Amino acid sequence: MKRPWKIMTGLILVIGIVGILVVVSGVIPVKASSGHWEITKWFLNFTKERSVATHSTGIKVPDLDDQALIVKGAGHYEAGCRMCHGKPDGMRPRMVSLMTPQPPNLKNIVPEREPQELFYVVKHGIKMTGMPAWPELKRDDEIWPVVAFLLKYPELDFNEYDELVWGKHQKQSGQSIDSAEGTSLPVPHLVIEVCAGCHGVDGQGRGLGVFPRLAGQNEAYLLVSLEAYHQDKRMSGTMEELASRMHQQEIEEVSRYYSRLKPFLSNESQGRDKTNNRDAQEEDASFERGAQIAAEGIAGQDVPACADCHPATRKPFKNAYPALMGQYQAYLELQIRLFQNRSRGGSQSANLMHAAVDGLKPDQIRDVSFYYSELPER
Ligand code: HEC
Ligand code: HEC
Ligand code: HEC
Repeated sequence: MKRPWKIMTGLILVIGIVGILVVVSGVIPVKASSGHWEITKWFLNFTKERSVATHSTGIKVPDLDDQALIVKGAGHYEAGCRMCHGKPDGMRPRMVSLMTPQPPNLKNIVPEREPQELFYVVKHGIKMTGMPAWPELKRDDEIWPVVAFLLKYPELDFNEYDELVWGKHQKQSGQSIDSAEGTSLPVPHLVIEVCAGCHGVDGQGRGLGVFPRLAGQNEAYLLVSLEAYHQDKRMSGTMEELASRMHQQEIEEVSRYYSRLKPFLSNESQGRDKTNNRDAQEEDASFERGAQIAAEGIAGQDVPACADCHPATRKPFKNAYPALMGQYQAYLELQIRLFQNRSRGGSQSANLMHAAVDGLKPDQIRDVSFYYSELPER
């Protein structure tokens, strides 16, 4: 009775030892140049698909059918994914086709995946394949726009892709623009090639509320913000990736450039959520409540007057503090929530904001953000 067991155990032991010897001898090729065997490919793919399906169960998918989200995701795709996965015309650097496994054309993959599976892969990456994780695991709010974009990707042609990423922007060198003082300002190369897609050459952020306005913002604040992204101290998967490629000199140049542009324009292009159906009367009341929070704070909730640091004038309290006037309401709301969740980070002064906004309730965040976004107009 015991014999078969002995033989089995012996056999397993021998297979194990031979396996170890094969690995130790170094004969198994790890070269990417020959690709995987079909059986290995099948096994790895099957493992990946099962793992992703299991781990993405229970992830709640938000409403993704929103143009602003899709544009935000498209911008990130261009900056952080296109170099491996290519554009709708299939173009990608030759180097990428030499990877094993190759980054797939996502037009073929997306229809086979659920949104929560895409979210899981984009957030965590895939081990031993070159597919990277999202740079900031606390910023799920940045990953969903990429999923929203991916869901549209299979139906996009080349021109529609470019329109989403660049809007009306033409990548022509030698452009210039009027500064706030009316002089002609040459547009830095980096702005034309990189920043303009999301923030615009004019620094107005494309009117959607997902990219902040930079025009007329305090130079010192732009500078410390870019440095904070560069040093991983302000958490944003998109901006950290871009700032990590910038030299100090470029950071200084673009900060000077955007700060000298005509400040935030009117609220025409606030891209405000039209579905909230607030009538004029409600908006006036919201503005007044916001104005009161900004001017006096909220005594019972430990909220100080915002205007101490963010005055209702263009002149900042301190140079490295941001002006909020005319900034998009949606952007301000998002940043306040990030401060509350400790998932924003920022410059050395950023922790001043934690104490300032921790006590704010959601409707108060909306009111005070609405107030600052409307301020130049009223
Ligand atoms: C350095 C190259 C590289 C970059 C950058 C990259 N990927 Fe990938 N990606 C890969 C590789 C390689 C695979 C194939 C993995 C595999 O077959 O298991 C992959 C696979 C995927 C998949 C398919 C996973 C599946 O379910 O089979 C998705 C979706 C994806 N990437 C999305 C993205 C997005 C979105 C970005 C940008 C945020 C991105 N990737 C950035 C290399 C990259
Ligand atoms: C792919 C879109 C995209 C591109 C390209 C881009 N940005 Fe941004 N930028 C964003 C987003 C989104 C945010 C908000 C990030 C956050 O939540 O912290 C942001 C934030 C910023 C901020 C902080 C603003 C504030 O009020 O705190 C600065 C400064 C900035 N970007 C400068 C630049 C510069 C300079 C470039 C060009 C080198 C650039 N960005 C390129 C999307 C982009
Ligand atoms: C003691 C000074 C101080 C007070 C009071 C203060 N803030 Fe701030 N706030 C700052 C600083 C400093 C920053 C920039 C942090 C950084 O550099 O990363 C900031 C950043 C912000 C931002 C992000 C802006 C951007 O462009 O990303 C928002 C939104 C904001 N504050 C709203 C408020 C509101 C609303 C209040 C009142 C409830 C308030 N702040 C009170 C100092 C203050």
